[in-house]
Amino acid sequence: MPKLFVANWKSNKSLEEVKQWLNDFHVELKDNQKVVIAPPYPLLSLVADKIKDLPRVFLAVQNLSSFPAGSYTGEVCMRNLEGLGVKYAILGHSERRRYLKESHQDVANKISQALSNGATPIVCVDQDYIEDQARVIEPNLLNQCVVAYEPLAAIGTGENAPADKVAKVSKEIKSVFGNVPVLYGGSVNPENITPYLRVTDGVLVGGASLDAEVFAKLIY
Ligand code: PGA
Repeated sequence: MPKLFVANWKSNKSLEEVKQWLNDFHVELKDNQKVVIAPPYPLLSLVADKIKDLPRVFLAVQNLSSFPAGSYTGEVCMRNLEGLGVKYAILGHSERRRYLKESHQDVANKISQALSNGATPIVCVDQDYIEDQARVIEPNLLNQCVVAYEPLAAIGTGENAPADKVAKVSKEIKSVFGNVPVLYGGSVNPENITPYLRVTDGVLVGGASLDAEVFAKLIY
């Protein structure tokens, strides 16, 4: 399976900062490597334009409406993203569960919206709710997800999880979702990435993706 390197910029970066990042990002991807960039919504089209000719570089959203197109003020659904080339949707990130009170059911609804409109969900879970999350996802959609193991204690803290723990949780995820790609996220940086690439299908990177040169160093 190809290795996925996902840059989750979260709610960071201005227009000018994104232009700078895109100018600074130079990487020769191998055949088995894919990069996914997840900018804030208003900056999607800028990134889309810049990466359209780059092979194996894809665009993601960091969230999606749990509803289809319609009267849902403030929401962004797949219809609104048509033409931008959004291929992935990061769904159920712990920050959204925590600050925006997203429930497992909300996340399941978003997964249905993504998949029925051609985007692959990258579903974020911590170990203690893998099964609870999976239980509310339509069973036939489970094995169409990419799943990111994101231990809360490791996110943005510098306390990255041990790779053997990641390997163990990755097996648990596969036993519940099927043989899906599993990513690890939580304080990944160019110094600590190597063992994660041995035991997973890639990484979901927050802080270390904000600087294009640091992010490029992760990919080797
Ligand atoms: P971090 O964030 O790399 O800054 O720990 C990871 C994430 O939230 O996905």
